[in-house]
Order: sequence, then C-alpha cells, then structure tokens
Amino acid sequence: MNIFIIGNGAREHSFAYAIAKSNHDVRIFSCNSNAGLSTISTNLTLDISDFNALKKLIIDKSIDMVLVGPESPLIDGITDLILNDQSLSNVKVIGPTKKGAQLEGSKEFAKEFMNKYKIPTASYRSFDASNINEAISFIKMNNPPYVLKADGPAAGKGVIIVDNEDEAIKNLEDMLLKSKFGKSSEKVVIEEFLDGIEMSCFVLFDGKNYKILPYAKDYKKIHEGDKGLNTGGMGSVSPVSFLDSKLKNRIKTEVIEPTIYGLLNEEINYVGFIFIGLINVNGQPKVIEYNVRMGDPETQVVLPRIKNDFVDILTACCNQTLDKINLEFDSQYLVNVVLASKGYPESYQKGYEITGLGDVRDSIVFHAGTVLENDKVLSNGGRVLSIVSKGKTMDEALNKSYENIDKINFSGKTYRRDIGFDL
Ligand code: AMP
Ligand code: GLY
Repeated sequence: MNIFIIGNGAREHSFAYAIAKSNHDVRIFSCNSNAGLSTISTNLTLDISDFNALKKLIIDKSIDMVLVGPESPLIDGITDLILNDQSLSNVKVIGPTKKGAQLEGSKEFAKEFMNKYKIPTASYRSFDASNINEAISFIKMNNPPYVLKADGPAAGKGVIIVDNEDEAIKNLEDMLLKSKFGKSSEKVVIEEFLDGIEMSCFVLFDGKNYKILPYAKDYKKIHEGDKGLNTGGMGSVSPVSFLDSKLKNRIKTEVIEPTIYGLLNEEINYVGFIFIGLINVNGQPKVIEYNVRMGDPETQVVLPRIKNDFVDILTACCNQTLDKINLEFDSQYLVNVVLASKGYPESYQKGYEITGLGDVRDSIVFHAGTVLENDKVLSNGGRVLSIVSKGKTMDEALNKSYENIDKINFSGKTYRRDIGFDL
C-alpha cells in the first residue's frame, strides 16, 4: 500500500514513524519534508495548492491513501477535490471535506453547530463591521477578561484575550475595520471567558463509527509557567492525570456523542480525526474549539501510546470498519519537549547546524523545522524538534527527554523546562 502524508512537521513525522512500524507492506510518500520525515519516506516536491500537480503525483506514485496532517488543505477543500475526481476514485483520504473542515475554518460555524447540538461551550455572539456598535456595547455590558476570536483561520493567532475594556474595543476595531487578520477577521466572535484547565481530546471517525484516542495536554505558551506569547505548542504529555472516568464519561456523552450525531445529522462527509479542545470548568467539560486534524505537539505523545498497528487503524477508518478494531493503549507516560529557535514565535534565525542527534538514547526525536543539507541537519523553522520519551511516571519520562536535550545542540536552542508542571 502506498500512503501519501501531506504536511511536513513533527506531527507528520510521527504519523510516518507509526506507519513505518506497521506489519503491512507500506511505502510512505511525503512532500517538502524535513530532515526526519525524509529519512523514512520518499520525499517529493509539491505545491499543495496546485491540485493538478497533486493529482499527477497520486497517479504516478499509485497512491492508495492520502493522510492530511494540517488544516489548511482541508479548509481549502483538498478532500472534495480528490473524492470528486473520477480518475482518483480508488484513492482514500483521511481528512474531512470542506464542509466538515468548517468546524475549524469558521468559529461562527463551530459555535452554531455546538448550539444546535447542545454541546457545552462558552456563550457567544458574533459581529461584523455592519454592527460594530452593537459589538462595542456588548463588550461594555460584559465583564473582563474579554475573549475575541477572528472567525476564520489565523495561524493560531486569531484569539485575543484581554482584561482591559479599551484594549478589547481597540482590538475589535482593528479586526473588523482594519483587517487585522485579513479576511479571517471580517467576522468576530466575542465569547464568555472560561476558567479551568485545558486538555485535548482526539476522536477518529470513519463516517459511521468512532474511536476515542488517548487524551493529551499541550503547553502553548513560550515561557515557563504558561507565560508569554502563544506558540504552536512547546510540549505535551499523555495521559492527562486529572482526567478521571467520571470526567471522561461526561466528555463522551455531552461532547463526543452529540458531535458525531451532529456530523451525521448535517450529512457532512467526515472521515478523519476530530480534535476537540476542551476546558474543565469545575468538572463540566466545555469545548474551546474544534480542529479537524490531529494536534501538534500532541500527536507525538498520542500515537506512541497506541499499541495497535497504525495502518490497521487507518485502513479500518477508510473502510468504515472502525467498530471492528479494539484499540489498546500503553498506560505509561509519554512526554514531548519541543526545541525551538531563539525568538520564536516572533522572528528567529534559521540555518544553524544541529549536533548530537546520534547520541540520543531512549527517546524518539521527531523533526519539525529541520532540513538536510550536505549531510548536515540544519534548523529550518520556529519549532525545530520534538523530544519524546516514555516512562512509568511522568517525571521518569521527562528526565529522559531533558537528558537527551542536553546532548542536542544548535545555536539559540530554546525550550521549556517545566512541561507537565501543572499535573
Ligand atoms: P483557540 O484558537 O480557540 O483554541 O484559542 C486559543 C487559546 O485561547 C485556547 O487554547 C485557550 O487557551 C484560549 N481560549 C480560547 N477561548 C477561550 C475562552 N472562551 N475562555 C478562556 N480561554 C480561551
Ligand atoms: N496543539 C494545538 C494544535 O495543534 O492546534
């Protein structure tokens, strides 16, 4: 079987790693790959937005399955293009159609969906430039902190949380009147601030049956103690220690089941991962956001906990036979500490040689922003590597990652020493 992975970060490297361990005879293809992904897959050059080029590649390489890592191609409709093309009728895609991807692509769509199917979330109203005065009155009527969200995708930067009323109104005006996030902020959702601890829930849905994957927690802020700017994620852990069976049951019945029911009821063609960002508000799980893909840096700790052959799972997902799969999870702790470039998530330098990768013992190194040049691995992005380890306790796993991090060096290496600090 030939599997083509779209995306080139650490999430996709961990997909490839899990597929490469399969007992099935599988060939993995990837495009524009980092130095890690390209060692375990055939690396092709492709502009993902060029559908004709993608189609040619799928045909030329006899691709059986396309596994889509990031959200943008899904929001842009890559799945619809493949499914609607007669000459690609045998190709399976893991990733929802454009309509399903709206759950991530439009905050307003996601909010309306949650309200319709009574899925607990923050109360909200949405506004555009035509009713900005109402939006301003709405802010004035409410209490801080104010949560403002650009409706459309904004590379993780579209959520603004401020304590000051004037600052909230200034941000609102920048979004609605000055295109702060381009077209994505033509509409703004203003919602209730939820106070609690966050966690990530992952569901794999074959269009009929679903499976809940291991829960994880990610650490989004750049600085220790969850301070500073939001990043793509500086680390992750799984399992999540505070998640007891009572809370898991509530998530299943109050969030996952109505989500699946909603997708079926709306006749949305959804085959793929559903990533539900949750917050635990005094025992009540509430949805912060939907994503229509796996999380990064969570995938790096979720997949290594799944004992089943990953290709069996993906195949069952494509064949609508997930109900036949009995998922088994490793009960040990998996942790991921991300190494980033100095300056990230703002401007940073790249092109620095990374040394010591060969000295790593008892951890897996998933590559994100790296590139292979003249047999040297160079940094090539904001988030550079994910150092993933397993242990009987979270501390044991963390110690392994931190010991290996001491061996890996590149100019400006930046990481958090407190992953898991709140658990
Ligand atoms: P999102 O892009 O919707 O996941 O939001 C990014 C981050 O903003 C989330 O991970 C939360 O930490 C925070 N956030 C979003 N919505 C809320 C809310 N209603 N209350 C509190 N924090 C929020
Ligand atoms: N871990 C957050 C995300 O993947 O969006």
